[in-house]
Amino acid sequence: MIDDIHWNTLLAEVTTESNSYDSLIPPLVQTSTFTFPSAETGARRFAGEEQGYIYTRLSNPTVRLFETAVAKLEGAEDGIAFGSGMGAISAVLFNLLKSGDHLLCSSGLYGSTFGLLELMRDRFQIDHGFSELSTEAEIEAAITPSTKAVYLETPVNPTLSLVDIGKVAKIAHKHGLPVIVDNTFMSPYLQQPILHGADVVVHSATKYLGGHGDVIAGVAVGKAELIQSIRMTTLKDIGAVLAPFDAWLLLRGMRTLVLRMNQQVRSAQVLVDFLSAHPAVDKVYFPGLQPGDEDIMKKQMRYPGAMISFELKGGIEAGRDLMNRLKMIKRAVSLGDIHSLIQHPATMTHSQVPREERLKMGLTDGMVRLSVGVEDVEDIQNDLESALG
Ligand SMILES: Cc1ncc(COP(=O)(O)O)c(C=O)c1O
Repeated sequence: MIDDIHWNTLLAEVTTESNSYDSLIPPLVQTSTFTFPSAETGARRFAGEEQGYIYTRLSNPTVRLFETAVAKLEGAEDGIAFGSGMGAISAVLFNLLKSGDHLLCSSGLYGSTFGLLELMRDRFQIDHGFSELSTEAEIEAAITPSTKAVYLETPVNPTLSLVDIGKVAKIAHKHGLPVIVDNTFMSPYLQQPILHGADVVVHSATKYLGGHGDVIAGVAVGKAELIQSIRMTTLKDIGAVLAPFDAWLLLRGMRTLVLRMNQQVRSAQVLVDFLSAHPAVDKVYFPGLQPGDEDIMKKQMRYPGAMISFELKGGIEAGRDLMNRLKMIKRAVSLGDIHSLIQHPATMTHSQVPREERLKMGLTDGMVRLSVGVEDVEDIQNDLESALG
């Protein structure tokens, strides 16, 4: 964790750059293509012999600023942006893996990531396995001769269980395996996986990085050589590219990342205490509530975050009733938004994961997931309280 950083200042710094207009906010370069001063220049740019933009599917100044900003925040050499978090995840995995390979994953993943793994297995013979990744013995036992990378979420969506990034990286590296961490639930402000040994960090930038519910985007950061290889293969030739305007909106959102997250984190702690003490609530899932969490939190997390999952005593029916009775908190998937959002993973974000697999991940039928917004915490709590009846 970089502690000696003035995060608000850093955010202002990395999201701007000097430009020919001297504009405070960098211009939006909304263009599909770039002109070459001569045919020879164009050829040299294509050959990689000369710097310069070619075509927005490869790179674009506004998108580039977003990519370098996230890379700096994560402590990575370089970054690459995509039209969605799933675009980022699939581009990274298809770059690193080929038919016959095996991917070791944390047990518990976002529903569409799970869907992607099934597609990779069924259509491209890239297999995967799951592990809690909690002890050295467990990690060693889950690595097979075909394992070519390790992929994890921490905290896991939506069970909020934690994985020790440093421990996984140490063992993975012993076997020559890169570690990919989905850092969506934390943002670089709360957790910087690269500093703990991760090789690639992916984000659904749709969430905390953007923060305002108006953009779908993804980003991956890591070593410059790998990022360049992704740019020239699974970005260029598959094409889940980020639009310049969306990059511009993301840069705007990122300038207030820390202001938003400090409020959300503070409110989440209040709401965890409230829910844990409420007689209608059966169980609350939040980093710090499970044995072993404290240790991992101290090592790699600034704060536990602002995502809370919980189950009501009345199970799935009670969860649905609660969602329907809320007045201010929005019934919606996504997270990390300025608005508080509530959803039911088993029938929404994780509905494509078969029930048996969901239960193995610890995702119960009755679990609801709350993404705490920036509204005044008294209002969020009052809404929950009256809906809980
Ligand atoms: C942890 C996590 N990773 C990845 C994604 C996918 O991101 P996107 O919706 O931007 O494609 C999500 C979406 O909810 C997510 O929660």
